[in-house]
Amino acid sequence: MFDTFVFRLPVWDLTTFCGRIAEDVVSPKGALLLPKGADFAHIEPPGRRNLAATLARQGVDRVAVQERAEQSLDEILDIFRSGTRPSARDERDLFEATLQFVTSYCKDVLFGSPGNIHVFPLLRIGRFLAESVSANPGILLCLVRERPRDYFLLSHSLSVGLLCAFLAHRLFPEQTGVIASAAVGGLLHDIGKQFVPEGILNKPGRLTEGEFALIRRHPEVGEALLKKAGIDDPLVLKIVRHHHEKMDGSGYPDGLEGRSVSMAARIAAVADAYDAITSERSYKKRLPGYKGISEIIASAGNHLDPLVVRTFVSAFGMYPPGTEVELSDGRCGVVAAPGERSILKPRVCLRTDRDGNHYPHPVLVDLAAEKNLFIQRCVSQGGQAENC
Ligand SMILES: [Fe+2]
Ligand SMILES: [Fe+2]
Repeated sequence: MFDTFVFRLPVWDLTTFCGRIAEDVVSPKGALLLPKGADFAHIEPPGRRNLAATLARQGVDRVAVQERAEQSLDEILDIFRSGTRPSARDERDLFEATLQFVTSYCKDVLFGSPGNIHVFPLLRIGRFLAESVSANPGILLCLVRERPRDYFLLSHSLSVGLLCAFLAHRLFPEQTGVIASAAVGGLLHDIGKQFVPEGILNKPGRLTEGEFALIRRHPEVGEALLKKAGIDDPLVLKIVRHHHEKMDGSGYPDGLEGRSVSMAARIAAVADAYDAITSERSYKKRLPGYKGISEIIASAGNHLDPLVVRTFVSAFGMYPPGTEVELSDGRCGVVAAPGERSILKPRVCLRTDRDGNHYPHPVLVDLAAEKNLFIQRCVSQGGQAENC
């Protein structure tokens, strides 16, 4: 699934690297600083920073490193724990491998025989998601970008669990218990849907009133199911029951308004809305991430909590990673990472020049550092340009 290749990495990038040293690292004076084969997967981030600082002090500029030939699920977990962002080419594989991993643990738990929920694996998964996004929010940005069409409910649950953990981490960075509860709540938010027939959930046409009423019962059914299974975490239960409540009181099942909806449920509502908008279903097309962002901004205040939306947008930017864009000088590329100073000025990996010629190597441009350069259009997947 992953190729092996050797490349020369700038020394400071070792702080987020997860792989092996490909050649002995020797100081300009000939002292061995780091032996070939040293494995960074087992070095904690503070240790990596110290190592990078030592190498830089010794005058080392770049080191030859080797990415792993293949990654087992254990190694994928190591990547999450180490906070290493995968290269763009690996992202889809990583999403699929992660989905498989989570599937193996919780497919039966989430969507197995109705009413049969095992609590322990869920808590483990919740902690895993919380640790993952706390260690490396960049991983989250790539994981929620790509998703297979199959197993919609499972990949939706995984994405919402990750997004909930991510938002909880941004809002309450020190509160690991809250982050883990948000992850579990997000993972389980739609568990009540296991009682809704597949034909209704995936119906391409308009739902009848009866079908719609059945779907609207899933938050209460989910909460009852979890209580019966022994889950008593109030944050998890609130997320499951109230993720369809709206700030103006027009949501369900309780028609709660504003702050009477718990913060945990308001977080889940934003995560759920963004993932639903940017997913493909049998009855609707997938919208690109930048349109998902516009839609959640438009819903802030009436449906969604403005603080949570602001948190989401300041982290993702107006153009989430993966958005294909055309710059004001005619060059085209794909957003690689959100901007650190402006939500409108991300880092873009350029692919073609203004005449449409492909660059031999991708060129990374930080728009925040380019005063007169801005995103002129987003290019949808079909190649159509749209004014932003
Ligand atoms: Fe739901
Ligand atoms: Fe949902």
